[in-house]
Amino acid sequence: MKVLVTGGAGYIGSHTLKALREEGIETLTFDNLSTGHEWALLGSQLFIGDLSDYGTIKKAISLFKPDAVIHFAASIQVGESVLNPLLYYSNNLKNTINLLNAMIENNVNKIVFSSSAAVYGIPQSNQPVKEINITLPINPYGQTKLMIEKILSDMAHANQIEYISLRYFNAAGADSNSLIGQAYKYATHLITRALKTAKGEFDKLEIYGANYPTPDGTCIRDYIHVDDLAQAHLSALRALNYNIKNEIFNIGYGTGYSVQEVIMKAKEITNIDFKVVTVQRREGDPPFLVADNTKIKELLKWVPKYDSLNYIIQTAWEWEKKLSKLQ
Ligand SMILES: NC(=O)c1ccc[n+]([C@@H]2O[C@H](COP(=O)([O-])OP(=O)(O)OC[C@H]3O[C@@H](n4cnc5c(N)ncnc54)[C@H](O)[C@@H]3O)[C@@H](O)[C@H]2O)c1
Repeated sequence: MKVLVTGGAGYIGSHTLKALREEGIETLTFDNLSTGHEWALLGSQLFIGDLSDYGTIKKAISLFKPDAVIHFAASIQVGESVLNPLLYYSNNLKNTINLLNAMIENNVNKIVFSSSAAVYGIPQSNQPVKEINITLPINPYGQTKLMIEKILSDMAHANQIEYISLRYFNAAGADSNSLIGQAYKYATHLITRALKTAKGEFDKLEIYGANYPTPDGTCIRDYIHVDDLAQAHLSALRALNYNIKNEIFNIGYGTGYSVQEVIMKAKEITNIDFKVVTVQRREGDPPFLVADNTKIKELLKWVPKYDSLNYIIQTAWEWEKKLSKLQ
């Protein structure tokens, strides 16, 4: 099997590439290296290009002739999407349409898409969300993900493609051997920020609001180890080959941890008592966002292996220490 991976040089893409290669699947990464890194490919094949350039993506697909595409490439910062919505509608939406057109022209019809829990906006209750929950994104980033899901659904209806959309919750952690890990220029994710604060890159860690209707007042999220996320893509590819298609799946553990709990665990693992301050709430942070993962477990037979906050933070910490030496 041959799989074209857009955004394979990024955080989740590179872990998925590694998992694909370990299964003997031939890959080609299509990436503009805007936030990704060539070292993250661990020597696998790279086609440098930007999805905004239709001719280039068409050429990559016609040369490689993949059986399927996994589409990670996107701009991913929620705050930035609020400040610069057109960037998000261009890079996420318009460029995905380029990719889909290039696939159709080359008779490639299978795609696994990186969606996000951001499509749910602010759920009405503190219950794990199901795929059938109302989708009401509250920022342009989440809007682009939902719009792409609608496009995929319409194209599937027209028998042009077969798709699986994975709505990730909070990806975290790193490869167990610290070969790859998260290396964004701007760290916005809680675990990464906490560990960078422990390393001294930031002088303090900010908690955005401690008066939410949760047991300790801080927001609760579902942190999923990036290697379990990577395996879900393999499950999705297998499913597409076995005719499970045109489905949307949540991908999280169904376990929630509060910001306070994550910070306590990060201090315990690093053995560093870094400074933490509570500031104003951010606009649009749901108090509780946890996945109901029944559907992916039942239909795709996805079996998570690393459902442990300890393991997630431990692998992220090992990676952060290595990253300091790389930089
Ligand atoms: N990180 C998370 O917690 C999370 C949660 C939900 C969904 N997602 C989704 O997962 C996907 C991957 O996220 P990530 O965390 O690995 O981000 P990332 O920034 O590390 O990876 C994105 C990759 O896409 C590439 N890219 C971006 N625009 C491109 C373009 N126009 N042409 C070619 N390449 C381009 C970047 O260089 C990078 O390698 C994204 O679609 C994101 O929306 C991530």
